[in-house]
Amino acid sequence: MKINGKTKLLGVIGDPIAHSLSPVMHNAVLDHLGLNYVYLPFLIHPENLKTALDGFWSIDLQGFSVTIPHKQTIIPYLVKITERAGLIGAVNMVYRSNEGWCGTNTDIDGFLAPLKRLSKQWSQIKPIILGNGGASRAVVVALTELGCGEIRIVGRNQAKLDTLSQSWENTSLAGRFSVHLWDKLPQLLGDCELLVNTTSVGMYPKVEDCPIELELLQKLTKTAIVYDIVYTPRPSKLLQRAKSEGLMSIDGLEMLAQQGVFALQQWVNEPIPSEIMMNALLEAVPK
Ligand code: ATR
Repeated sequence: MKINGKTKLLGVIGDPIAHSLSPVMHNAVLDHLGLNYVYLPFLIHPENLKTALDGFWSIDLQGFSVTIPHKQTIIPYLVKITERAGLIGAVNMVYRSNEGWCGTNTDIDGFLAPLKRLSKQWSQIKPIILGNGGASRAVVVALTELGCGEIRIVGRNQAKLDTLSQSWENTSLAGRFSVHLWDKLPQLLGDCELLVNTTSVGMYPKVEDCPIELELLQKLTKTAIVYDIVYTPRPSKLLQRAKSEGLMSIDGLEMLAQQGVFALQQWVNEPIPSEIMMNALLEAVPK
């Protein structure tokens, strides 16, 4: 990469940020395409968020990714967010407009990319989502965009499930989902064609943990898809079990790559080869 007077800036904000794989995967694609941009990591402490946004604006940063802990707290500082980002309540990608910084959420595109390659009648499919945190919200919005039937969200804390439900009252999501405590899983799994894990259970270093027991997994139909957004390790215990049962399995690495593809595409206004993003990630991801 040759930096010169015309080099344009992109980046990612977070706290911490040193572990982020985004600079590696974005710069790999920018290099490959010979685009005169550089994508940098920015460590921004929460109290500096507004100052950082003003500074980014004045140095003509073209756009940036947003990670923990800024995905929700950045919203008040943006002049506009997309409907999907509003429903999730989180922004992972910020772009410029004449009026100021705007936000959207490309985790949805990332999550959906591997599913959209499959020929399924999504309106006939009633997914189950394990977990009720930030990732779960993005997955629910994604699956409603895909046109899935009733989405069942399973959590371990009734109060948190109720708060989640209430946050979507009077929105386009009302009536599209239901919430359940974990002990209802055995009844729900029988007609489930898509099981998504959004909890951190099974993530490195607790690689032997699995969000559901093998006997429960066996209740799924043989054509079901098990999608674990965890990508360290690959495969997670859940996906190992799914594979051993002959079920289709998808992990979270492509989601990570594709959310970047959709962001970069919008910033540079060019088609982005997703395989370059994916290969850079495969090299960078902790084994
Ligand atoms: P993220 O933003 O990645 O979704 P999060 O907001 O911390 O992260 O959400 C993680 C989800 O995994 C939560 O729903 C959490 O359950 P609680 O809200 O009850 O804490 C769920 N989770 C984490 N560990 C879990 C475990 N051992 N069993 C079941 N659910 C778990």
